[in-house]
Amino acid sequence: MRDIEERIKKLLVEMTAEEKIGQLIQCGPSLVGAFEVSFEELLDMMFDGRISQEEFGKLMSTATQDFHEDDIRAGKIGSFNGIKNAETANRLQKIAVEESRLGIPLLFGYDVIHGYRTIFPIPLAESCAWDPVLWEKTARIAAIEATAAGVHMTFAPMVDVAKDARWGRVSEGAGEDAYLTSVFGTAKVKGFQDDDLSREDSMAACIKHFAGYGAAEAGRDYNRVDMSMQRLFEEYMPPFEACVKAGARAVMPAFNDINGIPCSVSRWLLTDILRNRLGFDGMTVSDSNAIAECVDHGIAKDRSEAAKLAIEAGMDMDMSSNVYAENLPALLERGVISEADLDRAVTDIMRIKFELGLFDHPYQTSCEREKETLLRPEYRACAREAAAKSMVLLKNEGVLPLKKEIRIGIAGELADQRAEMTGAWAIGANGDDCVSIIDACNASNINYVYTPGIENGVVNKKEIERLSKNCDVWIAAVGEKKDQSGEAASRADIGLPKEQEDLLEALLQTGIPVAAVLFNGRPLAIPWAAKHVPAILEAWHPGVEAGNAVLDILFGDVNPSAKLTTTFPYTTGQCPMYYAHINTGRPGGKGKFTSKYLDTPLSPVFPFGYGLSYTSFEYSNLSIRQEEDMLHILVDVKNTGKAAGEEIVQCYTGQKTGRRVRPVKQLRSFEKIALDPGETKKVSFDIDVKNLGYYDWNMNYTVDRGAMEIFVGTSSVEGLKADIVLK
Ligand code: NOJ
Repeated sequence: MRDIEERIKKLLVEMTAEEKIGQLIQCGPSLVGAFEVSFEELLDMMFDGRISQEEFGKLMSTATQDFHEDDIRAGKIGSFNGIKNAETANRLQKIAVEESRLGIPLLFGYDVIHGYRTIFPIPLAESCAWDPVLWEKTARIAAIEATAAGVHMTFAPMVDVAKDARWGRVSEGAGEDAYLTSVFGTAKVKGFQDDDLSREDSMAACIKHFAGYGAAEAGRDYNRVDMSMQRLFEEYMPPFEACVKAGARAVMPAFNDINGIPCSVSRWLLTDILRNRLGFDGMTVSDSNAIAECVDHGIAKDRSEAAKLAIEAGMDMDMSSNVYAENLPALLERGVISEADLDRAVTDIMRIKFELGLFDHPYQTSCEREKETLLRPEYRACAREAAAKSMVLLKNEGVLPLKKEIRIGIAGELADQRAEMTGAWAIGANGDDCVSIIDACNASNINYVYTPGIENGVVNKKEIERLSKNCDVWIAAVGEKKDQSGEAASRADIGLPKEQEDLLEALLQTGIPVAAVLFNGRPLAIPWAAKHVPAILEAWHPGVEAGNAVLDILFGDVNPSAKLTTTFPYTTGQCPMYYAHINTGRPGGKGKFTSKYLDTPLSPVFPFGYGLSYTSFEYSNLSIRQEEDMLHILVDVKNTGKAAGEEIVQCYTGQKTGRRVRPVKQLRSFEKIALDPGETKKVSFDIDVKNLGYYDWNMNYTVDRGAMEIFVGTSSVEGLKADIVLK
């Protein structure tokens, strides 16, 4: 460590102001040729639907790209976003190392969100596995693949707690709970970075989006965030704190403002909180174009002021906006910004480059390594395991598991669309790698018939009736396409599209049992389907092994064990909806003047922590003991069914009174256990009372000693409770 700091100091002495500023610049390759469009613009085009993900991939691989070689040579670029192959990475690195004056290596960043080439389930899905070992393993594989393709840093994990299902980016995080997101983020950081960042298959983790982005008002992407400091620090900051503790080396400030100051230029956030309070000593990199957007926010009068505010706030690297390159030289010369601020930013970036070993081994991959690494069979096997472990069985009235010899009718175009299975933010993916439900049926000789079921927005009832003669069960693949969640994909109505509900109704009318398989990137409001369709499997966007994993669950080769990490409301109007709500002075109930809606039940359709299995579990003997500051909680869990299965045992606390109102329940711990039929296991939780605190009115962290309810159960609503008075 000291050695690195010494080397940075020496380097700083040799660097010109221009070279220092160059290190703060991250750009993407520009695409040139028939059209002139930057990588970021192209990304935008994909996100807003002007081009598909496949077209994006094709353009990226065939268009002539401008890699700004002259600027690299001149030391004007420190980092790239969007380089995705070993050959290009090494070629550009060679220019930086051998042809620039000081030979400072480039840093290659990329959005490796849920796998690089082997696409795993979207993070929201994977979080439903409640499985830190799996979370770390999939991140490790993603790092091995991405680093083989030349990537040094991933813009992940996204640890934005998200309680509003309208927000499209719920798909990229671990759901609505701060504790679960902290465990998830920690596992991801470990998996990406492993224990030695300088190893060639380790990749720096850039946690994002700091902070509060998940609380965008009305679930509309990029929107304002206005909340109390107490709420920010209790509900949105803990995952960032946990990831910093786990050693995450980079942080990406969020697009949004918090209480009126855009995160990108908030000195309070980026210096007082991130550096001084959380003790972060890595680098910060802006979100794409975010510094420039401070002009649109109305916080900077022009790009020059945006650059000044950002660097003074603690923003080290400018992703894509070019605002630093354009303005920092003059700002420095005029003495508007200090050399010290510039040196701080350069130092932060150099530190990561040293830690990654780039100065000593600038070429961390080769075309051979890349070729033999991507999409290995064992990675696919892990993707299949992850997908099956992420699928939540929401309802099952005796339809599942299916018998092997059954004749299946499959309806819904999502059953036959490979690329849709990747979900949002899978930019290194090749859609054709994915196994659709139809592919999986073909490969396993399953007796099936298939119809998309909807033609030009209308259900083809005749076809459904005709096919019904040849099947014993209908599997309906419905939900969302992958671009209906993710960035810039907020929805004001999170129901199933009308024609999909019509399709389900038509299938039900055949009188044959129906199982709906949902592919989606956010909680959906599906009260009608939840009432009428006898079996529902939430498959999310499951990744490359989608079809195989769905069949594993449908046929019972894998017993479903996943549980929701996000609440499924009745209707969009209930958003934001989450289990850890407060009571109000008039808790919702039968009386008229209580906190509720006139036209919608108070409860969700499917609550946080909920998920079924092909077996059943029984909880008994809950006991709690306090020893000094430790709560020791014990419970017996028995498999009362006929199949072996895994159960996710959840432990919550609920403080009855406090100096500020407290959530009715908060997740504190969980444990996943495997049980054979008839088997009982004792599950224990040790909870440090010091971690049960909150922030009082004056923002002092407070732990009250008083009445507390302990709740241990199979979901956030079903389980055993006991009262304790904390000493
Ligand atoms: C925009 C997104 O908000 C962020 O999550 C992503 O990492 C960057 N663009 C880079 O692609």
